[in-house]
Amino acid sequence: MSFIFLILFRGNLLSGLNILGVINEDPKLSSLPEVYFQIKEAVNNPASGFEDVEYIIKNDSALSFRLLKIVNSSFYGFEEEIEAISHAISIIGTSDLVDLALATTILSVFADVDSESIDMNSFWRHHVSCGICARAIGAWDQKLNSEKLFLSGILHDVGRLVMLENRPDLVNKALDSHKETGEFLFLSEKDSWGEDHAAVGAALVEHWKLPASLAEIVRYHHEPLNAPNLVYECCIINVADTITKAMELGSSGDCFVPPIEPAVWDKINLSPKNLDVLLDRVETQFTDVIDFFI
Ligand SMILES: [Fe+2]
Ligand SMILES: [Fe+2]
Repeated sequence: MSFIFLILFRGNLLSGLNILGVINEDPKLSSLPEVYFQIKEAVNNPASGFEDVEYIIKNDSALSFRLLKIVNSSFYGFEEEIEAISHAISIIGTSDLVDLALATTILSVFADVDSESIDMNSFWRHHVSCGICARAIGAWDQKLNSEKLFLSGILHDVGRLVMLENRPDLVNKALDSHKETGEFLFLSEKDSWGEDHAAVGAALVEHWKLPASLAEIVRYHHEPLNAPNLVYECCIINVADTITKAMELGSSGDCFVPPIEPAVWDKINLSPKNLDVLLDRVETQFTDVIDFFI
């Protein structure tokens, strides 16, 4: 009898974090910035035209500014200067534009999150650098959607932001354990909360009704080989996460750079020559665009 109680009690502890409860109780997380839905609807509505998308973006001066700065940076690497939103849209394409608009506005949802234990500026830099690196890796494979990988990188640790804002006590508990034991931070989270930031982030992505592919990539970015459908994409985010930590382009709180599993590295199949090109590209693009994101 006491043995059964012990099992039930432990089971209860391990599923102790009510993720949906945390998300639902935070009004800030109720939906994404309105401009994202407006652009998405205009892009998907056959009755809307190119001018409607242009009108929506032009109405949001901060978004217009960021998009023009980004399309004129090494992130796209166009030779000619792009001065008009209409030109930017025609070059990026409306479907990639939806992802880029979301990637550049999503951090505003968490703009006022503060933390005593994690340097938030460094946290934002980590998200952006991971997105840039994932996009650059994805650009080598024509079959991949590199803008989707950029958005996945921007979103990958969003669950830790949710927890920092709503349950800083649990974040601190996991951080303390991570520092003490030297185990990976996401494993310390699982020990402390029964879940990790990847599960929280995936639940938020689902809550926002973003594509299931994004939720899967966020969910499995620390355990990419367990992903049900998108092992390759999850491996790319995992590698981008680690490479940018090693490059010290921001941090999401980890005390050390975790090693990349050989099986994950094999999936990416980056030659040493391409790795050198990648590191240069990431550093240049990061320097060029970071100010437009944070
Ligand atoms: Fe993570
Ligand atoms: Fe990360």
